[in-house]
Amino acid sequence: MELKNRPRRLRGNAVLRKMVRETRVDKSALVYPMFVMEGENKKEEIPSMAGQHRYSVDRMEEKLVELQDAGVSSVMLFGIPGEKDEMGSGAYAQDGIVQKAFRKAKEACPGLYLIGDVCMCEYTSHGHCGILCGQEVDNDKTLEYLAKTALSQVQAGADMVAPSDMMDGRVAAIRGMLDKNGYCNTPIMSYAVKFASSFYGPFRDAAGSAPAFGDRKSYQMDFHNRREALKEAMLDVEEGADIIMVKPAMAYGDLIREVKGQTNIPVASYSVSGEYAMVKAAAQAGFIDGDSIMCEMAVSAFRAGTDIYLTYFAQELAKCIEEGRIG
Ligand code: PBG
Repeated sequence: MELKNRPRRLRGNAVLRKMVRETRVDKSALVYPMFVMEGENKKEEIPSMAGQHRYSVDRMEEKLVELQDAGVSSVMLFGIPGEKDEMGSGAYAQDGIVQKAFRKAKEACPGLYLIGDVCMCEYTSHGHCGILCGQEVDNDKTLEYLAKTALSQVQAGADMVAPSDMMDGRVAAIRGMLDKNGYCNTPIMSYAVKFASSFYGPFRDAAGSAPAFGDRKSYQMDFHNRREALKEAMLDVEEGADIIMVKPAMAYGDLIREVKGQTNIPVASYSVSGEYAMVKAAAQAGFIDGDSIMCEMAVSAFRAGTDIYLTYFAQELAKCIEEGRIG
């Protein structure tokens, strides 16, 4: 048969397939999100996230070293405080859990790049991402607390801060605070395009941060919207964000692509707790090949335009890259 175009010609052998590959994956793009908690000698498995743990500060080092050995060079820290209060004061305390963790991580693994998630929901008794005024989260009041939180993390050793609260104007508020205190070179990765998503369920179990009443829909985005995602991204670029994040990743590849096309700064995507939990649960039940699905999900995020990929699978992915399964 006369066929001029035969796409299969480029799929005939493994060397050729790799030669014509359009998406290349590198370990340097991976960020591992890690939970730290108060207490001593603790390494607790998170029930909804098989294989993921919460570590006390004195046990963090073993995981950090494992990550480094696997070639994962960046970690995002989430603190789980011993006590929560109305004002989320643990978020910006000098000896707060995440501040202690940053100091420890810097000392134990100075080569690791440390990112701080800046939000209040793990620290407030009501579980909302900011300061309440009645039943509402007060946007403008929350900004000063977020800025204080970011500064306290940087003072404790964070190399970058990543606000995930979705208040309006937080990037500018944090930038102003960091600059005023001599940290004009500390980058901000903004969770600019963050949806009100059920994919965060397991995280909220892990951090005990589910809202005590209501939901997060008055600050996180409605997942029906695409143009609004661009609005959020552009506003944060104007406010001085250095990196824009889209979250979740798996069901939001269209937005990763869109933000990538419309901005000129690096784009991160966060494969969140629910994505991890689904893969793990289905693999454990024997319904899917977990490693292959993990690889496919990661490559799809990069194919969509991701430059930086935050994932609980960072260590396993690094191994797959090392072994040439993807890359
Ligand atoms: C804090 C924060 C959340 C996540 C990252 N930062 C929880 C939320 O917004 O409810 C979710 C991460 C995940 O699900 O893996 N606001």
